[in-house]
Amino acid sequence: MRTQVAIIGAGPAGLLLSRLLALQGVDSVVLENRSRGYVEARIRAGILEQHTVDTLTDAGLGDRLHREGMEHRGIYLQHPGTRHKLDFPELCGRTVWVYGQTEVTKDLVKAQLDGGPPLLFEVSDVTLEDVDSDTPRVRFTDADGVAQVLDCDVIAGTDGFHGVSRPVVQAAGGRTWERTYPYAWLGILADAAPATDELIYAWHPEGFALYSMRSPSVSRLYLQVDPAERIEDWSDDRIWENLSRRFALDGWEISTGPVTEKSILPMRSFVSTPMRRGRLFLAGDAAHIVPPTGAKGLNLAVADVTLLAQALVRLLTEKQADLADTYSDRALARVWRCTHFSWSMTSMLHTSGDDFDAQLQLAQLQRICSSETAARELAENYTGLPVG
Ligand code: FAD
Ligand code: PHB
Repeated sequence: MRTQVAIIGAGPAGLLLSRLLALQGVDSVVLENRSRGYVEARIRAGILEQHTVDTLTDAGLGDRLHREGMEHRGIYLQHPGTRHKLDFPELCGRTVWVYGQTEVTKDLVKAQLDGGPPLLFEVSDVTLEDVDSDTPRVRFTDADGVAQVLDCDVIAGTDGFHGVSRPVVQAAGGRTWERTYPYAWLGILADAAPATDELIYAWHPEGFALYSMRSPSVSRLYLQVDPAERIEDWSDDRIWENLSRRFALDGWEISTGPVTEKSILPMRSFVSTPMRRGRLFLAGDAAHIVPPTGAKGLNLAVADVTLLAQALVRLLTEKQADLADTYSDRALARVWRCTHFSWSMTSMLHTSGDDFDAQLQLAQLQRICSSETAARELAENYTGLPVG
């Protein structure tokens, strides 16, 4: 087999990269080690920045997003007794969209299988070879158990945090930065109409809580818990009681309903540099992880592949290496900005039991709720800074 770009991993980064390249006449093959059903069912991010929505729309993937997605014009910041709305269009002229990553992935897979470049599920033993040459290759075993070799010009490592690509880059020399936070999120999906028009980010002495949603009839809610907590110890009643307490506000009630999914997610910041070795380029979670408080993980993956697609089209079609040579630095500038924003939202909203820290957090929340300048800084970052 031969292609121009071998793409490892069919998450949002790999699938969108394949689509953006195809639209510019560059061919690719996407290799994914899980099944289609597994990839489409993974419940993850829910908020799309303006740039992400524009990119998906321009790539011809916006039909269902515009029909079923929900445009959100702000968020609420809450601390006991106060719920304050940040109005994004007023503060920075941009909005965000609620449209689950599961739906983005389904749209991308469908477009790919409807006449797009090859997408192979359930491959195994993926190995990258000769990435320092201009003729790298990928060896893998296909779903039928047959050993295959994919010759290519470039490999895109979009295989997430646990993939095989990042170790290959790091083996040539590189550096990683990591922060593990002393809290986790317990997330639920519930068949309950959201009791709020916008997402609520709530500080509470017992811990952070987030009220999000997936549709007019499905709520997505999160509770800060200790990373050592076991999901078996959290009955639905216990979860709803905690959510009600943390979101409590006079004259307002949370709406409950059957819980259809629950899990505990660890939280970490992680950055791996550089995002390139020779003809191997990393994008998305393969190179960086942010804690979900800033809603940046999926959006960063989209920003990376926007830059990477431009760089690869220039390299492979125009035979110019300039954008490829600066890809890692340009992507990392945005990665560190988003890493800072995600860390600052996480630090402001999660309680550690330290009373001094709690007073600093409340002072910062009050500042954002009373100063247009402070609110604008949050709004600009949350709705997404320009890409490129
Ligand atoms: P991924 O989506 O991880 O895709 C990588 C793909 O590569 C996967 O399909 C994987 O199966 C495949 N793969 C891995 N190894 C191989 C291999 N060796 N060969 C072939 N294929 C391989 N972000 C938010 O903003 N908000 C959230 O609420 C949120 N919740 C999250 C919850 C969880 C449990 C996780 C893990 C992440 C969450 N994120 C969230 C982050 C967000 O989902 C990611 O940033 C986003 O999925 C990144 O996309 P990606 O394509 O880079 O990586
Ligand atoms: C979600 O809906 O899953 C979600 C929303 C906002 C976040 C994190 C997760 O900051």
